Amino acid sequence: MAEKQTILILNFGGQYTQLIARRVRENKVFSEVVPWDISAEEAAAHQPVGLILSGGPSSVSDPNAPRCDPRIFDLGIPILGICYGMQLTADMLGGRVERAGEREYGRVTVRMAERSGLLHGMKEASSCWMSHTWQVSACPPGFRAVAFSENCPIAAMADDDRRIYGVQFHPEVTHTEEGGLLLSNFLYGVCGCRGEWTMKAYADTAVQNIRQTVGENGTVLLALSGGVDSSVAAALIYKAIGDRLRCVFVDHGLLREGESEQVCHVFQRLFPVKFVRADAAKKFFADLKGVTEPEEKRHIIGRDFIEVFRAEAKRLGRLDYFAQGTIYPDVIESGQGTNAAVIKSHHNVGGLPGELGFTELIEPLRMLFKDEVRALGEELGLPKDLVWRQPFPGPGLAIRVIGEVTPEKVRIVQACDAILREEVSRAGLEEAVSQYFAVLTGVHTVGVMGDERTYDYVIALRAVTTDDFMTADWARLPYDLIAAVSNRIVNEVPHASRVVFDVTSKPPASVEWE
Ligand code: XMP
Repeated sequence: MAEKQTILILNFGGQYTQLIARRVRENKVFSEVVPWDISAEEAAAHQPVGLILSGGPSSVSDPNAPRCDPRIFDLGIPILGICYGMQLTADMLGGRVERAGEREYGRVTVRMAERSGLLHGMKEASSCWMSHTWQVSACPPGFRAVAFSENCPIAAMADDDRRIYGVQFHPEVTHTEEGGLLLSNFLYGVCGCRGEWTMKAYADTAVQNIRQTVGENGTVLLALSGGVDSSVAAALIYKAIGDRLRCVFVDHGLLREGESEQVCHVFQRLFPVKFVRADAAKKFFADLKGVTEPEEKRHIIGRDFIEVFRAEAKRLGRLDYFAQGTIYPDVIESGQGTNAAVIKSHHNVGGLPGELGFTELIEPLRMLFKDEVRALGEELGLPKDLVWRQPFPGPGLAIRVIGEVTPEKVRIVQACDAILREEVSRAGLEEAVSQYFAVLTGVHTVGVMGDERTYDYVIALRAVTTDDFMTADWARLPYDLIAAVSNRIVNEVPHASRVVFDVTSKPPASVEWE
């Protein structure tokens, strides 16, 4: 295959930057997000076929506003500036940016003065998503205005000779009806992309890279959690080095019904890696005894996990590399140095390699978005139901049993959760709902069964739709589905006497109850 073509996205902190990267990749072109202050030399070293300057919250008139290396514009590589990226381009190349007479927000009709080049094939008037207070009021020398809206005289500008373009609206969001066409015009028409970025190509390159890094005899250790990312990482590394991949699966007894068995089945039969399952449920339950505070539960589970993992890993003998299923959104976010307040301390294996004395990390999914990880998993032949599994928190069902966690309560919540999953699947709604599960609330209520008075648990059902889990809405599950689940739970699960449905969005509520 010819050299991989890359689009480099300079990140000025806009909320849609990740989305731009995904849209480019949906066009089968590889894209990478880099900080806005990358030098022209560093940018050129990526050998990009095009650059995109993202949006951002700043205004170019602010002396502290982020400004890219001016030599970026002299590299001779095509550039598309979006929103702030366009304003910055105009400002740095000698145009003028001013506060808009009227702030534009939402869907705005944009009229195309030309329908060629960047705007090839677009309608004369197209609905576009705008969100800006500032705008370009005079194009820089060499540019011409190619689109306008009622309140924005220069909604797009073009310099075909230098192949530098700017758009005030956001082509990456779906509300911009022809945004996809504009991006593909830039990628294919302007940058000359060939569209060769596929999961098959990615898998081939990743396998080669892993082989090269690990060498002929090297061994790799991976913590399998049963989740999508670690499973896909395992399958990929297995393809590269076979049973020189050693996996440790810490079974804390807090997984969903049937999951522990599925993980063992897949990695003993389909991808026969050298595999250890540590059956540590007893230890986890013992250490969680009497603990009711959610953060304390998380810390105990995190600590126990490391302890058990370390003991099992030791038994595997000499291991050279530690593999992790880190994915691209984590990489972008950590690169941004975001200082988001810790709402919940997420249990992960972040500090583990260092503690185990590994200096070499293998992170074969580092450049992939979640949906790409799933596509890769399918490409590698992992079972569909594993690859499309909904997200599951590291501390598992411990944070879905409110209050003290006991084996009996976990069995109850497992049974309720299995019924919910079965019914959602029967209704064909698995892909329409982002995450759905049962919670054992810890509240007891009175009921009647036969002629007997009962006093048993309230089970809550939680189902949410979301793109990124930062915000979420409660899913409008059909009443008939909720009725079927409720009926089955109170009839089939001992000690579940009542079912309620959670109708709270995030914020203010979080997705999980603890
Ligand atoms: P929250 O409850 O924070 O959930 O709104 C957002 C997403 O994160 C998952 N979640 C966790 N994942 N360890 C994890 O690995 C945790 O401690 C944890 N808490 C929440 C949750 O399932 C949802 O997908």
